[in-house]
Amino acid sequence: MSNPASPPAVDVLDERPGLTFPPGFLWGAATAAYQIEGAAAVDGRTPSIWDTFSHTEGRVLSGHTGDVACDHYHRLGDDVALMAELALKSYRFSVSWSRVQPGGTGAANPGGLDFYRRLVDELLANGIEPWLTLYHWDLPQPLEDAGGWPARDTAARFADYTTLVADALGDRVRYWTTLNEPWCSAFLGYGSGVHAPGRTNGADAVRAGHHLMLGHGLAVQALRAARPAAEVGVTVNLYPVDPASDSPADSDAARRIDGLANRFFLDPLLRGSYPEDLVADLSTVTDFEHVRDGDLATISTPLDLVGVNYYSRHVVAAPVEGVEADPAPSCWPGSEDVRFVTRGVPVTDMGWEIDAPGLTETLRRVNGYTDLPLYVTENGSAFVDSVVDGQVDDVDRLAYFDAHLRAAHEAIDAGVPLRGYFAWSLMDNFEWAWGYTKRFGMIHVDYDSQVRTPKSSAKWYASVIRRNGLAAQ
Ligand code: FCB
Repeated sequence: MSNPASPPAVDVLDERPGLTFPPGFLWGAATAAYQIEGAAAVDGRTPSIWDTFSHTEGRVLSGHTGDVACDHYHRLGDDVALMAELALKSYRFSVSWSRVQPGGTGAANPGGLDFYRRLVDELLANGIEPWLTLYHWDLPQPLEDAGGWPARDTAARFADYTTLVADALGDRVRYWTTLNEPWCSAFLGYGSGVHAPGRTNGADAVRAGHHLMLGHGLAVQALRAARPAAEVGVTVNLYPVDPASDSPADSDAARRIDGLANRFFLDPLLRGSYPEDLVADLSTVTDFEHVRDGDLATISTPLDLVGVNYYSRHVVAAPVEGVEADPAPSCWPGSEDVRFVTRGVPVTDMGWEIDAPGLTETLRRVNGYTDLPLYVTENGSAFVDSVVDGQVDDVDRLAYFDAHLRAAHEAIDAGVPLRGYFAWSLMDNFEWAWGYTKRFGMIHVDYDSQVRTPKSSAKWYASVIRRNGLAAQ
């Protein structure tokens, strides 16, 4: 546990050694369907919960929607050419469920599948390994209308959709992740309601989390049945959670938040059980009657890899007696009154504290659960960028990547089987409730002209990939 009074977590050494990554290290960049594709109503695609949500007034900053986004749907050839310029070894993208199976049930939509076939073929033609995520938050709206993730049947629908995608693309896609960040789908989507579908009920959030994991387990089984050679995993977003002081009350607050943020997913997925203390913490929220015999065995179906998304650390403190919890709907059901503390260290444009050592800590922690190969499937930062003479000199983003790659290397040195790293994101895109106001890309996107401009971080990342490591500085 880090001492909250310690200096900024960014690496402040003046001279940094060169570092080489293991042979075959999979260098990539990531995106997600709704954040980049646009073409919301093209070739048979029907609305997902994010279409509905973004078109509902007051849900997304400035009323932004993903209707056009980066128009990647119509620009995939040019975008893959940019990936090749970046020397990417792999590209992690997600499939829009309502594009390939409009409405979320029934037959596949050939037009939708064709887009992903063309994308995958173009990647392979450029020597870039496709990495397919089946679900990056965009549930088909009719499935939400039927109950959404709090309803058990949604898990079965997800497995059916998985079979359609595996049948169509499994001959050319080797790497698969089922879900992206189920914590966000469950607790932001159904708890705080800041993400689609915007519902605010703690018990629903917990049920959603369970059914997402059940859907994951069923999808792994569907993939294994359709494509025995596939490398299959799941992506979870994890945070180290530190107490603000060494008081027992703050430690207990950290235990609670760690339970909801991390162990809610890691324990069922990798150990086949819910942590007892978490179940007790949630006793005022739910009695877990939604968990049926056999669910945890399905959820913990063996995997080939685990994907970790890492952005920051949480530091928390016990509730102050006599002070009421914020009445706004919470993404921490049962622990609404825990306080999140800022340490005064440098933050990104999201306000997220920059904490590279937290990545080492997180990877080592997951390695304590499993010997499976690990991949950082997302890591990156938003900063305000300016285009000057056609250049974007994003020194802050570059420094963020550099510090986190050094932290990733430290985990490898400590024996963690880390096999790859995906920068978030390939290009600026629709940042969910923040719309287009936050830029995470290595490639700048002018949303009026759709002109793409590789930033300094992109050029630097290409050199990192080419030398399979970091130059001495
Ligand atoms: C992650 C999401 C990704 C992006 C980054 C900044 O939580 O998976 O889509 O929004 O955050």
